[in-house]
Amino acid sequence: MIEQINNLFEEIKNLTASNAEELEALRLKYLSKKGIINTLMAQFREVPAEQKREVGVRLNELKNAIQEQFNALKENLAGKEEELCDIDLTRTSYPTRLGTRHPLSIVKNEIVDIFARLGFSIADGVEVEDDWHVFSSMNFAEDHPARDMQDTFFVEAHPDIILRTHTSSVQSHVMETSKPPIRIIAPGRVYRNEAISYRAHCFFHQLEGLYIDKNVSFTDLKQVLLLFAQEMFGTGTKIRLRPSYFPFTEPSAEMDISCNICGGKGCPFCKGTGWVEILGCGMVDPNVLELCGIDSKEYTGYAFGMGIERITNLKYQVKDLRLFSENDVRFLKLFESAN
Ligand code: PHE
Repeated sequence: MIEQINNLFEEIKNLTASNAEELEALRLKYLSKKGIINTLMAQFREVPAEQKREVGVRLNELKNAIQEQFNALKENLAGKEEELCDIDLTRTSYPTRLGTRHPLSIVKNEIVDIFARLGFSIADGVEVEDDWHVFSSMNFAEDHPARDMQDTFFVEAHPDIILRTHTSSVQSHVMETSKPPIRIIAPGRVYRNEAISYRAHCFFHQLEGLYIDKNVSFTDLKQVLLLFAQEMFGTGTKIRLRPSYFPFTEPSAEMDISCNICGGKGCPFCKGTGWVEILGCGMVDPNVLELCGIDSKEYTGYAFGMGIERITNLKYQVKDLRLFSENDVRFLKLFESAN
């Protein structure tokens, strides 16, 4: 038996296992219930008493040696398997795809930057408003057509609560809660009950401006708007003011800029006129100042309001307004480089 054990010592020195199956085969052969070690243990009972001590010690050594050898092979195999698995930890990572800023946000930020440099700060407003801030305080007569259900979204059962139809509602909040000098801009979303098409939507974005102080004149308004137009569309941009009407400004005007798409020569965008309208403006009506608690004998002011979609269209020629709210990534990705 001693000889058999010695032979086994030699045998196990050269054991190898190149995969899990081979390893398992070794386990079965040597270490399982019916394996060689157990068989030898069973035979050990027959060993004559005078040899028992020597054989017992040797058999135990063999058992430990096989177990050790088996463990070493197992460890080795686990290491190999790790190497073989196809994760390359040293490889550079896949590029992360960043989101892009929405074109309306890009343009809004640009407008805000220009006015911020002129000393305007941002005023925030709410989209669900009351009639007073949207209409009454803005000098709309009781029967003004803009209050009509055709234009305005009402909150059912609360005829006084509406979705703001313009950002001018922020004007009244600011005037009610602060003292002149006031110099704010208010960007935000507005709602009108319009059928949705490529050129109209039931919600869109505006940016309001309001400046109130002593001796503010129409000249100040014109100069600020000229500066804005040239910062936004280039130094060669011309502006023209056409008389208009808004309940909350007097006098009122609409401002056109020389069409920056055709350079003023005439194109489909400016309908061949060379000019495109970009905003409404005027001197704050004294009635509005009084309704909002500002002394109209001491103070004057100007206000203006522009559509952000319109300015964005002029910059990027987006032909269909609906693209702005559909969030199609193919459209949004076009503005990656403008971020
Ligand atoms: N609120 C007006 C509109 O929605 C724009 C405007 C703002 C006009 C401020 C004059 C002064 O069309």
